[in-house]
Amino acid sequence: MTAAHTAEDIIYDPSDPAVMADPFPVYARLREHDPVHWSPSLKSWIITRYTDVRDLLLSDDLSVKRLTQFYNALPPADAELLKDIIHYLNLWLAFRDPPDHTRVRRIMRHAFTAKAIEDMRPQIIEITDMLLDRLETKGKNDVDLIREYALQLPAFVIMDLLDVPRDMLDDFKEWSDDMAVFIGGARNSGDKYERAARGCQKMSSYFAQLIKERTENPKPGFLMDLINARDEGDKLSEDELIATCILVLFAGHETTTNLIGNATLLLLRHPDQLAKLKADPALIDSTIEEVLRFDGPTNALVRVAAQDHDLHGRQIREGERVFVMVNSANRDPRMFDDADRFDITRQQNRHLTFGQGIHLCLGAKLAREEGRIAVERLFARFPDLALDPSAPPEWLDAMVPRGTRRLPVLLRG
Ligand code: HEM
Repeated sequence: MTAAHTAEDIIYDPSDPAVMADPFPVYARLREHDPVHWSPSLKSWIITRYTDVRDLLLSDDLSVKRLTQFYNALPPADAELLKDIIHYLNLWLAFRDPPDHTRVRRIMRHAFTAKAIEDMRPQIIEITDMLLDRLETKGKNDVDLIREYALQLPAFVIMDLLDVPRDMLDDFKEWSDDMAVFIGGARNSGDKYERAARGCQKMSSYFAQLIKERTENPKPGFLMDLINARDEGDKLSEDELIATCILVLFAGHETTTNLIGNATLLLLRHPDQLAKLKADPALIDSTIEEVLRFDGPTNALVRVAAQDHDLHGRQIREGERVFVMVNSANRDPRMFDDADRFDITRQQNRHLTFGQGIHLCLGAKLAREEGRIAVERLFARFPDLALDPSAPPEWLDAMVPRGTRRLPVLLRG
């Protein structure tokens, strides 16, 4: 598209396979010609410039509490089906505004200490090596790196953190996939409300039981810290605790899977950068930051306007839905030099992938640690790792997360 095109010409269709594979050209057009774009099909605003995305995430005019409006508009049968999941989601830190958000976040910070994350390091290494050993002993040459590595690694880390036995992986994956169809992962499926309700019911009963056991038989660790976390006499209610466990499980696994998957894909697609990293392993920190910026797991964040908000001459009305496109902001040439270049030595890298403001990701330190360990050890173990030329990566059909569903690779080149 040329500069002659107008705002009205631009159609942003996230379900178009070409856009799924590479959304960046349409983001560039939107940033240039229609930075506050109304999408009739999504019935939402699409915000694409860095400063607008950052400022909106910092603004009180937008709220994360978007579930109430949705819930109130549901037909009675669906509302009944979704009663429990909405109850728990409304207790998620990620869906609460101040003052509730402030109170719960202050309490949760007691469990998310730097030390708690630091203590996870040996476990992350152990899990990573166990998965790499498994890959090796299978002797396979072509594998789906998501299923056999990127998905399992963060799932086991979060399960260890929450004290869930590792043999529960398949159950947890199923319950969390069921909930994900509702929360913003994969797009519509016919029975998505039934699945979401079932996933939530299984997950919440599991955590209720686990919390009961831990309370009766205390055992040091993150879950115990969460149970014990007190702040000036305040603590999490039983339901808030269950909701928080579900949130941590959710927030901490798919995002990190996508970080590992996207990092591997980007490095394999940019052999010059991979060679640089191999020559200087100390570049791993800036590599992870560049992956987070260049094609990170946070494609978009969702908000609802709590009050009218004017931006670049467009009026966002109270109650309207707003997608702030983080991955577009991270490619804004107004903010980043040579923004479309994947450069693992980039120094100025103030990407927005962990959000901004009061909801800034609590698990960023853990995610970075997992990303570093996963990528370093994968390429050390399989130095000839290559993309499978006969099977291209399959991207998630989703608007909020960004990552591949399948990433076929050849382990030995
Ligand atoms: C690469 C991996 C990750 C990415 C890209 C990521 C990204 C984000 C983003 C963008 C937010 C803000 C959401 C919003 O403003 O609506 C967020 C919030 C959050 N993240 Fe992460 N996250 C990652 C990993 C993790 C991990 C490993 C954990 C926990 C173990 C975690 C826990 C949380 C929590 C609890 C919140 C809610 C904070 C709040 O609402 O105050 N995240 N994350």
